[in-house]
Amino acid sequence: MSEGIILEEAPDIHAQFQVSSPAMMVIFGASGDLANRKLLPAIYKLSQQRLLPPNFVILGYARSPLSDDEFRHRARTSMVGNSEVEFQGSAWDAFAPRLFYISGEYDDHEGFERLQERISMLEEQWNIGGNRLFYLSTPPSVYEPIITCLGNADLVKPAGGHNWTRVVIEKPFGSDLQSAHKLNDHVLSVFDEDQVYRIDHYLGKETVQNVLVFRFANGIFEPIWNRNYVDNVQITVAESIGVEGRGGYYERSGALRDMMQNHLMQLVSLTAMEPPIAFDAKAVRDQKVNLLQAIRPLSLDEVPDYVVRAQYNAGTADTRPVPAYLEENGVASDSTTETYVAWRLEIDNWRWQGVPFYLRTGKALPRKASEISVTFRRAPHLLFDSTEGFDGASGQGETGLQAAIQRERLIEDSLSRNVLTMRIQPDEGITLKTLAKRPGPSVNLTPVNLEFTYGHSFGDPPDAYQRLLLDVVLGDSTLFTRRDEVELAWQRITQVLDGWQMQEEQSSNGSQPFRLPTYPAGTWGPKEADGLLEKEGQHWIAE
Ligand code: NDP
Ligand code: BG6
Repeated sequence: MSEGIILEEAPDIHAQFQVSSPAMMVIFGASGDLANRKLLPAIYKLSQQRLLPPNFVILGYARSPLSDDEFRHRARTSMVGNSEVEFQGSAWDAFAPRLFYISGEYDDHEGFERLQERISMLEEQWNIGGNRLFYLSTPPSVYEPIITCLGNADLVKPAGGHNWTRVVIEKPFGSDLQSAHKLNDHVLSVFDEDQVYRIDHYLGKETVQNVLVFRFANGIFEPIWNRNYVDNVQITVAESIGVEGRGGYYERSGALRDMMQNHLMQLVSLTAMEPPIAFDAKAVRDQKVNLLQAIRPLSLDEVPDYVVRAQYNAGTADTRPVPAYLEENGVASDSTTETYVAWRLEIDNWRWQGVPFYLRTGKALPRKASEISVTFRRAPHLLFDSTEGFDGASGQGETGLQAAIQRERLIEDSLSRNVLTMRIQPDEGITLKTLAKRPGPSVNLTPVNLEFTYGHSFGDPPDAYQRLLLDVVLGDSTLFTRRDEVELAWQRITQVLDGWQMQEEQSSNGSQPFRLPTYPAGTWGPKEADGLLEKEGQHWIAE
């Protein structure tokens, strides 16, 4: 791992951690939402838990003209109003004097010279030594100028010296393969790969890390974690909120770039990768890269058959009214940006050949739910033929009735399969659905769940940013994405983007303008996404 000393009075729960060495953390975009809502609270909590030393100092940098006191006041206000922070006056009084702010442009040499001077002054005043952490919490349009200015101002010390310099880069890392490649080239013209921490906050979630622990620390699952026993794998990352004021950003992004390229690709990698030889950055990331390479590429023509996209209409999601996407602020009235995407992908390797992976993510769905469900094959010989839960269908027109019967059959079929569901959030935990005999004279099978919940066993998991920031300070990049990983994920995503573009061009050349499927807010997405599974005798599990 990295440098540091054991903190003698650390609470037991953190006894396995080393407290970090002193450092100066510079947050670019410190006036913004992420800094105030996530980063500063995470540092505050780490300090409260004494996982950061008293001379871990934060210097905010952004264009807004703020004094140190105004910056502290903003941070305090956002923490007091943050339900995830247990705000304590005394802890705040110890923390606040370590917050500083300097305003400047992101592409201005003069601003970075002043930054350099302020850093040197604070390093001396607080006896920090020379460890530096730069956090890019700005829109991606200014990542490149910031990196250039950091390099020109000589703020980046070479890797391998006595002190470390690290940079954390927020998502989105590029908007397609080409831009991600270019950004990587630029970042690596100033930093070494070992100094770069590309963040994906899903990897900081306890439940996501537990996917590897579940698979590789328990002897009983890995032998059946393959095409011989697994029928299909489903990954759902659903949100009930719409774009909520982020229309401008979302228009350039859409669900594929915003969620699939990063969070869902990471979940697929962790669920399907081969066992690494150790739990360290190189071994884990090598295996994730192998897995991403094995995802079957799609030709442009194949894209519409394997990937469904859609946009939400007005509706009510999780009891709250949601306007149609086209009516959100910052959204073009004829926008074709997708707010929902479902993808049937295949992994071409020995372990997963022929096992479909169904992925979906969307906004304005009925509830927030991120989960991975592994459905196992049925028992080879069915001794018992009576499964509860199938009531047939009635009271519908003939076509509706047939569809309902078909659907009920699918559900009945799935009732007789074992399904292992890892709930990333909320209600974090793991459920294994099995069949049991309902007590009584006849043999009636009914599904029952074997259940583990985090809350019950461990209490609420900590916020992902806490874990990830501590890892950066400790120099552990296992939970961050490497250059090859991010580019491979973009390669697969860019194939889909290209396929969609071709679909739109073909459509505009024909008589019909291109129309995106829609779904009412508060439903589980378009019928086309159900069709993706139903044609293979499957249905979505998370509902
Ligand atoms: P903001 O839009 O709040 O921007 C952060 C700061 O950057 C602003 O306060 C502003 O500071 C400056 N800024 C805003 N727009 C521009 C612009 N066009 N040109 C130059 N500077 C600008 O972003 P967030 O804080 O929400 O996000 C920061 C980064 O983190 C983004 O890359 C985002 O994708 C990523 N992210 C954010 C999440 C979140 O929950 N907010 C979640 C996951 C990732 P000033 O004007 O003072 O310079
Ligand atoms: C972010 C996306 O990366 O993840 C957001 O940009 C999304 O659009 C968010 O809302 C979801 O994160 P979480 O942790 O709430 O599932």
